[in-house]
Amino acid sequence: MYRTHTCGELRLEQKGINVTLAGWVQTVRKFGAITFVDLRDRYGITQLLFGEELNKVLEENPLGREFVLQATGTVSERSNKNPNIPTGDIEILISSFQVLNKSAVPPFTIQDDTDGGDDLRMKYRFLDLRRNAVKKNLELRYAVNRAARNYLHQQQFMDIETPFLIKSTPEGARDFVVPSRMNPGQFYALPQSPQTFKQLLMVSGYDRYYQIVKCFRDEDLRADRQPEFTQIDCEMAFVEQEDILNMFEGLIKSIFKDVKGIDYAEAVQRMTWEDAMWHYGNDKPDIRFDMRLLNLKKPGTVYTDKTDSAVLINGADFKVFDEAETVLAIAVPGCSEYSRKQTDELTEWVKRPQIGMKGMVFIKCNPDGSYKSSVDKFYTEEKLKAIADAANAKAGDLVLILAGAEERTRKAISELRLEMASRLGMRKDDEFKLLWVLDFPLFEYDEEGNRWVARHHPFTSPKPSQIETMINNNPVIENAADYLNHPYANIKANAYDMVLNGNEIGGGSIRIYQRELQEKMFAALGMDKEEQLHKFGFLLGAFEYGAPPHGGIAFGFDRLCAILGGSESIRDFIAFPKNNAGRDVMLDAPATIDQKQFTELQIKLDLK
Ligand code: AMO
Repeated sequence: MYRTHTCGELRLEQKGINVTLAGWVQTVRKFGAITFVDLRDRYGITQLLFGEELNKVLEENPLGREFVLQATGTVSERSNKNPNIPTGDIEILISSFQVLNKSAVPPFTIQDDTDGGDDLRMKYRFLDLRRNAVKKNLELRYAVNRAARNYLHQQQFMDIETPFLIKSTPEGARDFVVPSRMNPGQFYALPQSPQTFKQLLMVSGYDRYYQIVKCFRDEDLRADRQPEFTQIDCEMAFVEQEDILNMFEGLIKSIFKDVKGIDYAEAVQRMTWEDAMWHYGNDKPDIRFDMRLLNLKKPGTVYTDKTDSAVLINGADFKVFDEAETVLAIAVPGCSEYSRKQTDELTEWVKRPQIGMKGMVFIKCNPDGSYKSSVDKFYTEEKLKAIADAANAKAGDLVLILAGAEERTRKAISELRLEMASRLGMRKDDEFKLLWVLDFPLFEYDEEGNRWVARHHPFTSPKPSQIETMINNNPVIENAADYLNHPYANIKANAYDMVLNGNEIGGGSIRIYQRELQEKMFAALGMDKEEQLHKFGFLLGAFEYGAPPHGGIAFGFDRLCAILGGSESIRDFIAFPKNNAGRDVMLDAPATIDQKQFTELQIKLDLK
């Protein structure tokens, strides 16, 4: 037997018993004729005490960091207790030991605050995974996994595996492809999600399906994106949107309870996509704080015009506002006393290429009731007050205004809103706010191709009241500049996203389940009959054999874990992640393959 106990297990109650532990040497500390060794395993750290005799052995064969050690001895009470670790009251008085394996000096320290940079830690990820901080993240991931499975099992969902070597599933990214040796010149695609399979399972009668499953997407990477990531993927038959919202609100709340001990009692807030865009400039608003946008100009976009605040900036001869497509404001609480230096710094912040604005206007709502602005020249104090009031600013607040092209300005103010909230400590890691965003547009306009693309995916159904609009109108966009006036621009989908603290953690929809409507949808996206059959003949065919009404959702499992663990980066919650260039620096993958493999695949490389 290698060990009788783990390194996290022993307490004073076990004083006097003989034990054997096995683990990794964390530290070696010599004190005259005796040596202390901290031995670490997955469960914790226990102090070992080597007396004079064994110390002599150690002097001849010194232990190094990360050596694998087996040691036997008696549990004894420590004179110098360590209240910071659970085993801190005891130590093991070692009687015999054995080095099970040596270790080279690790390239970084195996501690919470390690001296290893990102690249080094990823190269030696197997060592990085020994660190407590990373282990905690993986433990949290496993806890989320268990909580999800428990809930879904209780709700009679069945875990059914679906294949990885498939044909393209369109989720808006590029496919990873795998050449087929047995079918030369043909390729499988790795699933961007199990979307079509879970729909087929509904046709097969498995009316509650789930899978915690890998998805593969070749897209530009960010902190919250990996080329292979995991979804909690779910589908239900005989449901309406409301059933899905309730079921999966239940799932997330159950995860909160099991993993974090949080009782999220209130109903998850709901917001239409239009309202989200209008009030927050974003389809995944962080609602832990308010700071809503004020639109100071008629928007001229898909969003309905809900304000007459345009009058507030009109007629002042301030060209920047007059000529801008959009003017948007937020009221930042308690910042009216910002210095010139601070407002200049903020102006520079919005001018950064990532934000891309030309400048920023501010109004200080002074505590004494007066107003001071960077555009005092153009607006009377009365006007400034009216703008500040419309933006819901109070005495002591700072109103920030951005003007410019619609989309860029909206994105910029929404970033500025998050930035200001972060600076003011309004985005706390341990506060969780869920939100359903509903009624997304069914289509999105693709400028490059002058055509419609599916906002979610092509299997999403339109709102029943708008099916006629879809069927009776030609999808062709005659006048690109005027695409917003095309009837398709206003068709809303039975689609929903779940947002947690400003992150999209899940998305889904009620599906199309009739062949005719699905064909119409494909056609609206510019697919002719031949292409439809080539790509999705199997699904169209299945819809002819008793497809039930169905719908579902998929949660970004890595994202959910990262947010629950208080991190921005999903990489910290994946055992073996890829870097931002999509590389596994430990394996050094992707890599070239042998000529023999090319020959077998009958593929010849012709790199441009
Ligand atoms: P969607 O594409 O919205 O929906 O994906 C669902 C959720 O998966 C997460 N996610 C990602 N996480 C990490 N890295 C990525 N590259 C990545 N891409 C997406 C997000 C997202 O909300 N089949 C549909 C679901 C359905 O309709 O039922 C789908 O995949 O958190």
